[in-house]
Amino acid sequence: MSALIELRNIWVEYGDKIVLERVSLQLAEGSFVAVVGPSGAGKSTFLRLILGQEPPTRGQVLLGDMPMRAECGPDRGVVFQRYSVFPHLTTLRNVMFGIECGQAPFTARLFGAQRRAARDKAAEMLAAVGLEHSLDVYPAQMSGGMQQRLAIAQALVKHPRILLLDEPFGALDPGTRLDMHALITRLWQEHGLTILMVTHDIGEAFKLGTRVLAFDKRRHDPHAPHRFGATVTYDLSLDRKTLPPPALVEAVGDTDPRKEIA
Ligand SMILES: Nc1ncnc2c1ncn2[C@@H]1O[C@H](COP(=O)(O)OP(=O)(O)O)[C@@H](O)[C@H]1O
Ligand SMILES: [Mg+2]
Repeated sequence: MSALIELRNIWVEYGDKIVLERVSLQLAEGSFVAVVGPSGAGKSTFLRLILGQEPPTRGQVLLGDMPMRAECGPDRGVVFQRYSVFPHLTTLRNVMFGIECGQAPFTARLFGAQRRAARDKAAEMLAAVGLEHSLDVYPAQMSGGMQQRLAIAQALVKHPRILLLDEPFGALDPGTRLDMHALITRLWQEHGLTILMVTHDIGEAFKLGTRVLAFDKRRHDPHAPHRFGATVTYDLSLDRKTLPPPALVEAVGDTDPRKEIA
């Protein structure tokens, strides 16, 4: 399979602090890549690189053989753990807003037939995430799970090829999280998406991912903690029988998926 995204010897530095070093990898179209690693290892930075929000200090990010554009294009959608929806807009208006921004970048308002088409498209996407009965509800009136469904609808309505999820289910209770696992797996398959998902939960990573990337520091300088950056320490292609190496569970896991899978 051809690479949709390629990172070539990426380094990210803030002043004399090195966050990521020597990251080289290819991400296949259609894969579901779960990203794990300790807090501060640069997982969100890695997503921002792919979102085009963060230029690397060194190295290249390629999207389908072309250098990554600086602005976030319609080819990429993103969902964060919280606060990625607009609190002052209803569910329907939240999803329409994305379409309106794309079609009317200065005013974010559409009229007449264009507006009706945007409304229909937004309603259809909301139905796909199970919010067809909550079109006129405001985010504050909804549960955390419903808000994340809304954020996913908002990200997918422009039909991105790549969906970036930064700990999207971290704040949800276990039952809601299971529902969201089923939802994201279905959307991934139905929309032919390439997904990159950061998660704290290594069980979730191995359950949902077709590939698991772990970021961590390989080298430590006790006198200068920022001297070395994190890099990819594990890159595991999963078939259903793959279990995470015990050392990885110990390094980043709060649950042990080996027990659940075995
Ligand atoms: N704009 C920035 N300026 C300085 N340091 C930053 C900036 N963004 C992130 N960092 C630092 O980079 C490191 C990695 O951050 P992050 O990518 O958010 O890690 P993770 O998502 O794995 O927890 C952290 O030490 C963080 O403080
Ligand atoms: Mg993060």
